[in-house]
Amino acid sequence: MTEADLGADPEADLIARRARLMGPNVPTFYRAPVEIVRGEGVWLWDASGRRYLDCYNNVAHVGHCHPHVVAAIARQAGLLATHTRYLHRGVLDYLERLMATFGHGIAQGIMVCTGSEANDVALRMAQAATGRRGIIATDATYHGNTTAVHALSARRTPVGGHPDHIRFVPAPDGLAPAGGSAAAEAQRLGAAVAAAAADLEAAGHGVAALILCPVFANEGLPAVPRGHLDAAVAAVRGAGGLVIADEVQPGFGRTGSHFWAHDRLGLAPDIVTLGKPMGNGYPVAAVLARPGPMAAFRERTGYFNTFGGNPVAAAAAAAVLDVIEAEGLMAHAARVGAETLARLQALRHPWLRQVRAEGLFFALEFRDEAGAPAGEFVARLVEAMVARGVLLNRVGAGGQILKIRPPMPFGSEHAEILARALAEALAATPPRP
Ligand SMILES: Cc1ncc(COP(=O)(O)O)c(C=O)c1O
Repeated sequence: MTEADLGADPEADLIARRARLMGPNVPTFYRAPVEIVRGEGVWLWDASGRRYLDCYNNVAHVGHCHPHVVAAIARQAGLLATHTRYLHRGVLDYLERLMATFGHGIAQGIMVCTGSEANDVALRMAQAATGRRGIIATDATYHGNTTAVHALSARRTPVGGHPDHIRFVPAPDGLAPAGGSAAAEAQRLGAAVAAAAADLEAAGHGVAALILCPVFANEGLPAVPRGHLDAAVAAVRGAGGLVIADEVQPGFGRTGSHFWAHDRLGLAPDIVTLGKPMGNGYPVAAVLARPGPMAAFRERTGYFNTFGGNPVAAAAAAAVLDVIEAEGLMAHAARVGAETLARLQALRHPWLRQVRAEGLFFALEFRDEAGAPAGEFVARLVEAMVARGVLLNRVGAGGQILKIRPPMPFGSEHAEILARALAEALAATPPRP
């Protein structure tokens, strides 16, 4: 079928087909969704051949379609693709390599296929290890889409309301920390976790875990100093609970300073979950833990996952580690991250209140004259960037934070393109429509 056969507007036809075949309200990026057909490095191409700078996709961690990862997947797919009930060296070699990047007793792993599955297992593991049910999460987070994990999303209430064993505490706020300073916010967070734990105890659930993303990626990347979570961690441990670090977004060196973002905070989680960048697009994720929680979970559940840790997944994940090491991508993230931050900090707009960064992860927060979240403005800014061939998106409770999280090979030349396009888009987008 040619484009002519599809009618005058093939894009509209795809949108109509999605609605017909996939049902209503299927998320798409951008008001005029792009049909991406090819990727290479930090670049994506649409069906008309137009090239876009990808400033958003952390799944393609070592660059879209990196030849080393593609070759590893193809080689293993041509040899064997079974599951972990047969013995296979690939998954063991990979776990050994992965675990060597962790400290604080993280020594065993379960391979799964998605970040949601990883967090689902992590919750069950904490519950199995503590014999308690209660979970504490931050109040604007997203940890995935299984029934148990989705219940941690404060913004989308499950049918029948949030389960009684879940409590929310306020996420750090980069712009206006609770109590007026980072130190006061850290103390308040500790007090909130202690109160949530006491409440869960009183309700008969007790506390199994506090789960959080160590850069609060879905909460807009608030600047969180080292030690900021110490009071919160002390409170949850004091109540007998564990700490789960969701490294699905910041892991694998993106922050530039540390391979894992929880290490930057000085946080020593009992359980860590990984996903998105792990297989550079091949669906592979993991739950890593200390031997105690792992044994409690394994013994209680006999957990098995058909696709998790299959030889192709292990080959993809190992190839990603190869590239991170061979291309020095963590040091690269630190260097280019600092350079990009300086360019973003030089941007001027009356509503641009704060520019935040963790290596190759950036957040630009916009608020209007009255301090209200400028979500509608940022939505139009995102569209103005797409029109200039730069793909990014927004986050935050009011959608007021521009989120920039490119594949790791993003270089100085790309930072220049991004900053120039942003300066133009800021100048061309009126504050109000
Ligand atoms: C922090 C975090 N955890 C977990 C998930 C879920 O991962 P997946 O979509 O692979 O299930 C996401 C997805 O966006 C995420 O942002």
